[in-house]
Amino acid sequence: MDKKITLLIKNIGQLITMDGPVPRLGNDLNNLGIIENGGIAVAGNEIINVSSSDEIEGKSTLSDDCIVIDADRAVVTPGLIDPHTHPVFSMTREMEFEMRIAGKTYMEIANAGGGIRASVRDLRSTPKETLINKTKHRLDRMLSYGVTTVEAKSGYGLSTDSEIKQLEVIKELNQNHPIDLIPTFLGAHEIPDEYRENREEYINILINEMIPKVVENNLAEFSDIFTEEGVYNTEESRKIQQAAKDAGLKLKFHADELKSVGGAELAAELNATSADHLVYISAAGIKAIAKSKTVAVLLPGTTFSLAGKQYAPARKMIEEGVVVALSTDCNPGSSFSESLPFMTSLAALQMKLTAAEAISAITVNSACAIDRGGKIGQIIKGLPADLVVWDMADYREMPYHYGVNLVKKVIKNGKLVANNC
Ligand code: NIG
Ligand code: FE
Repeated sequence: MDKKITLLIKNIGQLITMDGPVPRLGNDLNNLGIIENGGIAVAGNEIINVSSSDEIEGKSTLSDDCIVIDADRAVVTPGLIDPHTHPVFSMTREMEFEMRIAGKTYMEIANAGGGIRASVRDLRSTPKETLINKTKHRLDRMLSYGVTTVEAKSGYGLSTDSEIKQLEVIKELNQNHPIDLIPTFLGAHEIPDEYRENREEYINILINEMIPKVVENNLAEFSDIFTEEGVYNTEESRKIQQAAKDAGLKLKFHADELKSVGGAELAAELNATSADHLVYISAAGIKAIAKSKTVAVLLPGTTFSLAGKQYAPARKMIEEGVVVALSTDCNPGSSFSESLPFMTSLAALQMKLTAAEAISAITVNSACAIDRGGKIGQIIKGLPADLVVWDMADYREMPYHYGVNLVKKVIKNGKLVANNC
């Protein structure tokens, strides 16, 4: 017997299924797998039928408490996937934002003891409960913007206990919040204050104490590192990330964010799942990433909030066959935003992506950036029912109608979890 439908969405003007190749490359990025006048049937947490609205309504056995949503000719997309965030922090850093407006650079502020190290000093003395409450608030906001899966990094502890405290916050929220959280260990986010004169010692602790403990306690799926001039050089990055890989973690890199240092090439060499930022990626870096399976996660909100002039060369990457995804980089320093839809506006205006390319980059391709390609980010029979009903009749409105929330309803695993209007 057919499963009874527990949630049905009918009368969808543009049903953006994202059915098609995973990942999306080149011209395929413009293929959204659209069904006009579509419908979706869900049983429990699973999509069981995707078709025309008439067909879905015609042959449906509804459960007694079935939720029926009339989309009123609007757009429905898969739940959005944010593949790079730093959401666990207490103190905000608006004073640095003002310093940047007054002309200081991100690195000048960091070298003067601000930046990541300022967040570390604060986080170490913040109780876990406070971190849980503040992070939950940010996740609620992400959810209201249509985001149903989020990669979340540690990296503001930089000691074994404080890094674990952050990863435990992520673990607890993953269990108690509708958003699925994918945890990443970022102990190599900076060199902490107490090891500035003895960085080798901190690298030893990372390799011999922190990574083994994180793995032993099953607290992270990925290991990330800030490979940048003045932070971790490529040699140190190779050593740390190789150790993480040997311990069973998959890899991510903050690469070529502020300068070209060969981070992209290193990410490709180590078969990283993703290389992120890439504003200053070299021509060789683009070629290396294009040849690999590594996804390029672009973070236009960071360039925007650092008042930068140069955005990642997205068009060149797409032309050369790189898998491109987009993310907020949500963090208190370089990009304080929970809005993935706003990143599509920046991607369109500053990186010349079409609306369709940007939507591919926050669904099917961002799933690949967290090693979930083909499992989420698409509306296909058999996949989890992560869905967004939008207050727009044409998907191109997403980048165009910026700075406001166009999400009406969010469904996670078949349950209505945000009902904005
Ligand atoms: O992705 N670049 C390193 N990490 C973050 C910034 C973190 C911070 O400033 O607190 C980034 O830009
Ligand atoms: Fe980041």
